[in-house]
Amino acid sequence: MASDQYFDDDPTVPSSPLVVDVTLSDTAFTMETDRGVFSHGHLDAATSMLLRAALPLAPSGDVLDLGCGAGPIALAMARRSPDATVWAVDVNARARTLCRSNADRNGLPNIVVAHPDDVPVDLQFSTIWSNPPIRIGKAALHQLLITWLGRLTPTGNAALVVQKHLGADSLQRWLHGQGYVCERLTSKAGFRLFGVRRAEASPG
Ligand SMILES: C[S@@+](CC[C@H](N)C(=O)[O-])C[C@H]1O[C@@H](n2cnc3c(N)ncnc32)[C@H](O)[C@@H]1O
Repeated sequence: MASDQYFDDDPTVPSSPLVVDVTLSDTAFTMETDRGVFSHGHLDAATSMLLRAALPLAPSGDVLDLGCGAGPIALAMARRSPDATVWAVDVNARARTLCRSNADRNGLPNIVVAHPDDVPVDLQFSTIWSNPPIRIGKAALHQLLITWLGRLTPTGNAALVVQKHLGADSLQRWLHGQGYVCERLTSKAGFRLFGVRRAEASPG
């Protein structure tokens, strides 16, 4: 049966590509989107909020876009830190294909698109940015965040954007309980942007 959940491993819903132009204050790119992948035909409002915030981003080394979809976060990271390697991971095969072609389309060779299981286990990330897949359910989301936040470098930091009505504040409390500092950086239009780092790490 055809399915169009954006977090399916292998969406079977028929393809219907739509190209989206994304303009930020410091850069612009073009992104192909498709059915069966998050935010078909537009840049998601939460993702837009994350990309428009002045977030710290490591200038080099390995950084991560967790749940890349068609790749808007990875594309912006790669543009802003051309000397970094941007790992763009997603379980959705159609999303990975789109993200790869969007990296090529925008001339960004520093993006590595991978299934989560194919990222080398010893790799750590100085920056993680994500509009995480809240709709996979609380237990799966918690497991996902514990796995990947656990791969932050000791002084690394993450930025997570979450809709308030999808449990942003309880997620913040849960992250505190897991030993992370989780600060609300911005709150507007029903979204929270959180900055996350290990509690024992010094800020900055
Ligand atoms: C809210 S969407 C964000 C997509 C994209 N970053 C954007 O901002 O447009 C979350 C993404 O996480 C992916 N995802 C779901 N479960 C995942 C998992 N276990 N590991 C990695 N990615 C996952 C989904 O397939 C989806 O593309």
